[in-house]
Amino acid sequence: MQRLYRKRIVLGVGGGIAAYKSAELVRRLRDQGAEVRVVMTQGGREFITPLTLQALSGHPVHMDLLDPAAEAAMGHIELAKWADLILIAPATADLMARLAQGIANDLLTTVVLATDAPVALAPAMNQAMWRDEATQANSQLLIARGLHMFGPASGSQACGDVGLGRMLEADDLAQLAADCFKRESLTGRHVLITAGPTQENIDPVRYITNHSSGKMGFALAEAAVEAGAKVTLVTGPVHLPTPDRVNRIDVVSARDMLAACEAAMPCDLLIAAAAVADYRPEVVAQHKLKKDPSTGDGMLLQMVRNPDILATLAQREDRPFSVGFAAETEKLLDYAARKLKDKNLDLIVANDVANPTIGFNSEENAITIIDRDLQQNSLAQTSKGKIARQLIAFIAERLNNQA
Ligand code: C5P
Repeated sequence: MQRLYRKRIVLGVGGGIAAYKSAELVRRLRDQGAEVRVVMTQGGREFITPLTLQALSGHPVHMDLLDPAAEAAMGHIELAKWADLILIAPATADLMARLAQGIANDLLTTVVLATDAPVALAPAMNQAMWRDEATQANSQLLIARGLHMFGPASGSQACGDVGLGRMLEADDLAQLAADCFKRESLTGRHVLITAGPTQENIDPVRYITNHSSGKMGFALAEAAVEAGAKVTLVTGPVHLPTPDRVNRIDVVSARDMLAACEAAMPCDLLIAAAAVADYRPEVVAQHKLKKDPSTGDGMLLQMVRNPDILATLAQREDRPFSVGFAAETEKLLDYAARKLKDKNLDLIVANDVANPTIGFNSEENAITIIDRDLQQNSLAQTSKGKIARQLIAFIAERLNNQA
């Protein structure tokens, strides 16, 4: 089985003698189905030629931060966003120190700083350098920040010493890279995500809508693809580009959204992140409504309930694992728990839209996930991209572990 099927890996190659093993590592990662792009530091290039890694990865090697031609082809931010995982092998003591400090003075360190993807390091250095207090402190700091540390192994070293500091072998590194995706794997799953607002027409020129930007739903679609899922994203009107490898279906009203979701069934997992209008005007006027002097300063608009998309799909016989959102401005957890029950959900994600830094249209989010046992798990405030990855990992673990 290709454990890294369609995974996008940025392989960072630092300046250590173990860089000769990176060539083999590119092969092993590709054997597992990964697409690999190599970023080399200046030091890395002293030990192995970019041409070797270009030939093995099938792509030009990325080297310079300030090279306009390279930036035009695939810039550092693009590369940071492209990656599902950044694996640095070999990671030298110097690279670890720079990463620990957040220094971004070359392409590789800049990409690491700019990415939302998990980062793994395969340290490789002389045993005394590895044991040094500074290196150990940097290693602990990076682990505490969530970076994965692969190795180092113990044994004889190129310099003649014996001890901890050898880089792990290519096979081991490829397996560990695959393990990074294991827990959160949605490989082979069909995930249906609703996103954005809906628009409910009043007449040909007016409609009722809400402040939803769609950012959370789109970030979830991207994270689900990275976790290996086949993703259908049904979205109301938003101004967002379609994430790579996502099947996007644009809709306008709640009833359109329900029809599109029903057509996309069956799915294994439904995440309803759309802010669906609860009501729509009972009749949509054929012509633009005119001011009516007979009603004075007022006007009455008769509204009717929209179907509940999430509840409808969660009621079906082929019901998917169902995750809803509860965006509230008060009594957040109470309302969320009630919705979980009323809509027959597996999980509900509560988010406090009264807080302007995490509400509608903001770049960040902070959420509490509530399950059927009313257990709560909170994810601290961070970018919607990071929250989406954490949420997808959480959901995938539940989905994969259900009876
Ligand atoms: O009941 P409320 O609108 O607060 O529920 C929010 C959750 O239900 C969200 O996950 C939202 O996407 C979903 N929903 C829906 N169809 C509706 C209303 C809400 O799918 N008509």
